[in-house]
Amino acid sequence: MLKTLIISKLNITYPIFQAPMAGGPTTPELVAAVSNAGGLGNLGAGYLTPEQIRIAINKIRGLTDRPFGVNLFVFEQPEESKETIEKMSDYLNYYRNELGIVQNPSLPKYSESFEEQIQVVIEERVPVFSFTFGIPSNNIIQSLKKSGTFVIGTATTVDEAMILELSGVDAIVAQGSEAGGHRGTFLKNASESLIGLIALVPQIVDHVSIPVIASGGIMDGRGLLASLTLGAAAVQMGTAFLACTESGAHPTYKQKVLSANEDATIITNAYSGKAARGINTEFIRDMQLYPGNIPPYPIQHVMTRDIRQAAAIAKDPEFMSLWAGQGLRLANDHSAATIINDTIEQARKIITMRF
Ligand SMILES: Cc1cc2nc3c(=O)[nH]c(=O)nc-3n(C[C@H](O)[C@H](O)[C@H](O)COP(=O)(O)O)c2cc1C
Repeated sequence: MLKTLIISKLNITYPIFQAPMAGGPTTPELVAAVSNAGGLGNLGAGYLTPEQIRIAINKIRGLTDRPFGVNLFVFEQPEESKETIEKMSDYLNYYRNELGIVQNPSLPKYSESFEEQIQVVIEERVPVFSFTFGIPSNNIIQSLKKSGTFVIGTATTVDEAMILELSGVDAIVAQGSEAGGHRGTFLKNASESLIGLIALVPQIVDHVSIPVIASGGIMDGRGLLASLTLGAAAVQMGTAFLACTESGAHPTYKQKVLSANEDATIITNAYSGKAARGINTEFIRDMQLYPGNIPPYPIQHVMTRDIRQAAAIAKDPEFMSLWAGQGLRLANDHSAATIINDTIEQARKIITMRF
């Protein structure tokens, strides 16, 4: 039951993907440790410069000869009025004051160029490329496939999955509403696309003919087996690896992940302008009272960056973004290999006991 088609296609041992987690957690060490343990490690490269992506890929290759993946964000650059941006910056000055940092800093560039990032992924011929927030052009998908890369898109609804299949991807990550981090939703509003994983996976499986990877709230062998039973070909686990030894998450963030419960998270656009699930903080609660429009992603993301960075230096979790899914109580601080081995061991035990 654990030997699904996708694992022979990708040449991995177990149907476990470690979720790409941009912003620090998915270090080359974590990606390589997961791949070395028989899963598929994935680098969250959305915030990295093209040069940083190349360096990280080389580092991963130096640590493992197993397959691994690289993940990027695909989105349209939004426009926002000067007034909305200035109003937000004035509001954020309160937090800057609390943290003792410069008021109204000049805004850095909103994001790295996707075209330049993907060029590196194509040139480096990475084994797996996954993306979220939208769909790259047909040219890009075809170039990746021509260079031998297995391409995976992210869907939060059946309609999104069907459109992704038409775009030519090789597999789809079905992201349930339990999932930590940003919502991959690209067709409707994120609030209209919050489908629990147990409902989402079989419905996507029934409507596409390519493999589906279940993601959201899966923390152990029980979640793995349940997902395979629903028709998934593999699982993608994020929160389960957040506090592990090789994760690059900030120690304060890891501590929160290890101590928070299933009811601690909320979906918010306060930090980045895009809906994402994370542990509730004072910053999120305050921003719910913001008297205006929160600028869209990635504008709000760069506008709050100085605050999040200063909070990390001050070890103040209340102003940091603590993305995490609803499986929090099941998180641990073991090594990545132990998490993979324990997950497989638990799934095997359940199979021998019950089937
Ligand atoms: C800290 C964090 C960062 C994330 N960053 C990304 C990312 O860069 N790209 C992506 O496709 N998904 C990202 N995700 C979402 C994961 O791919 C996945 O859907 C999610 O982790 C699954 O839910 P779980 O955390 O409950 O396992 C992130 C999730 C977390 C928790």
